[in-house]
Amino acid sequence: MKIKNICCIGSGYVGGPTMAVIAKKCPSINVTVVDINQDRIDAWNDSDLSKLPVFEPGLDKIVEETRGKNLFFSTDIDKAINDAEMIFISVNTPTKTYGKGKGMAADLKYIELCARQIAKVAKEDKIVVEKSTLPVRTASAIKSILDNTGNGVQFQILSNPEFLAEGTAVQDLLNPDRVLIGGDNASEAGKKAIQSLVDVYANWVPNDKILTTNVWSSELSKLTANAFLAQRVSSINAMSELCEKTGADVNEVAKAIGMDSRIGPKFLKASVGFGGSCFQKDILNLVYIAKTYGLNEVADYWKQVIVMNDHQKNRFSDNIVKTLYNTVSGKKITFLGWAFKKDTNDTRESAAIKVADNLLNEQAYVVAYDPKVSEEKMYADLEYLNTRSSEENRELLTAEDNPYQACKGAHAIAVLTEWDEFKTYDWKKIYDSMNKPAFLFDGRGILDKNTLEKIGFVYYKIGVGA
Ligand code: UDX
Ligand code: UDX
Repeated sequence: MKIKNICCIGSGYVGGPTMAVIAKKCPSINVTVVDINQDRIDAWNDSDLSKLPVFEPGLDKIVEETRGKNLFFSTDIDKAINDAEMIFISVNTPTKTYGKGKGMAADLKYIELCARQIAKVAKEDKIVVEKSTLPVRTASAIKSILDNTGNGVQFQILSNPEFLAEGTAVQDLLNPDRVLIGGDNASEAGKKAIQSLVDVYANWVPNDKILTTNVWSSELSKLTANAFLAQRVSSINAMSELCEKTGADVNEVAKAIGMDSRIGPKFLKASVGFGGSCFQKDILNLVYIAKTYGLNEVADYWKQVIVMNDHQKNRFSDNIVKTLYNTVSGKKITFLGWAFKKDTNDTRESAAIKVADNLLNEQAYVVAYDPKVSEEKMYADLEYLNTRSSEENRELLTAEDNPYQACKGAHAIAVLTEWDEFKTYDWKKIYDSMNKPAFLFDGRGILDKNTLEKIGFVYYKIGVGA
């Protein structure tokens, strides 16, 4: 079947960029992205492209080229479902905050709502594509809802996990390492559905990079990929602590081991801890699934990746307090960066949030600067932790939109995100404006130790021995 109309439910960090790239590469397909959030849809439709709800390098240009031609953003979900032969589900699946599996399992509430809505609306056969990361065997749950509540039409469920990384989403979508499509490859109808999605991607992805598998392999591959990537970060972060004690330099160690072609150079950058919407959530999910099957050793093994990550964040704030003579009460500490990594305005699970929370517990006065993150988002992130009242958060943390102003009079600076612009600052000017001794804690290891020490900073680079 040739697909002419695609609908995507969920216009977030995954749905938005993915659909924009499909629209660009498939001019003969109409792509409609729908969302229950009217503000988000309005922002996607804003004529001022700097207002798009997702910041990704290159995305504005693609939206400008395709919007109104074959890319549409709307809140009319029923119409979009009705018009489409293929429906992507790209809504969020946060970790459950209640009930069974609280703090570990993925909350499938929104996925189920989508399935029920599709079932209610669909008057013709549809292909439903899981784009959200889901626990293994979710597809069969979706299928059961569709078959039992629908209007007697046929549904095929495909799993098509997203491997894009934020900040490089457009590039990752244009040149993916691979595209994974899982489906019911035992039936003719299933094979046809798989082929119709293969045909969409074949518009720009070479055939040997499009893998087809059964649904469960595809679902599990997504969790596994994220678990392996996060494990590398936790592994190098574990070594960073040992390096700090022994006088080794974790960057040198990473370089040395990364040149072993069996290990490879990527995802070996020691940091204040990984963040992002996926790593923690997907590992918790994996741990939960393993436990459900009674595989306790498997669960414990992967859980340790998170334990290490939490430790790294706490270790970073502990080091700040210890170095500033065991008290930061009333001291101004400047955060450079709040996003979970550079080139994104996304802050979900960002290490900055936990580090700030720890320092606010010590009554520090935190001033944060991030080129893409608003003050309100910072407060929302802190409020989500629920450690103190919203008024207290607002008293102790402020955002500043000028980095030089943010550092003025500070006792210490903490680099929490690896924004390139931090390397271009006039560090002498910043040093002169600070309280002495002026401390700099580089949680991303991006600044040059020698230069900063020459200026006069007391400088701590993550994973580098004193
Ligand atoms: C995605 C995936 O869906 C998630 O499973 C993966 O692990 C990370 O990436 P993301 O696009 O980052 O999530 O989520 P988000 O930016 O929160 O966007 C989800 C959108 O879905 C929101 O705009 C929300 O309003 C919308 N939504 C949610 C609906 O339209 N309907 C719902 O029922 C629920
Ligand atoms: C990740 C996966 O890479 C992507 O394939 C999946 O679809 C979604 O989850 P993302 O969360 O956008 O993507 O970012 P990623 O680049 O993987 O970084 C995750 C976190 O790890 C960031 O906080 C980053 O700073 C940190 N990280 C990454 C390190 O600390 N060191 C590294 O060497 C690499």
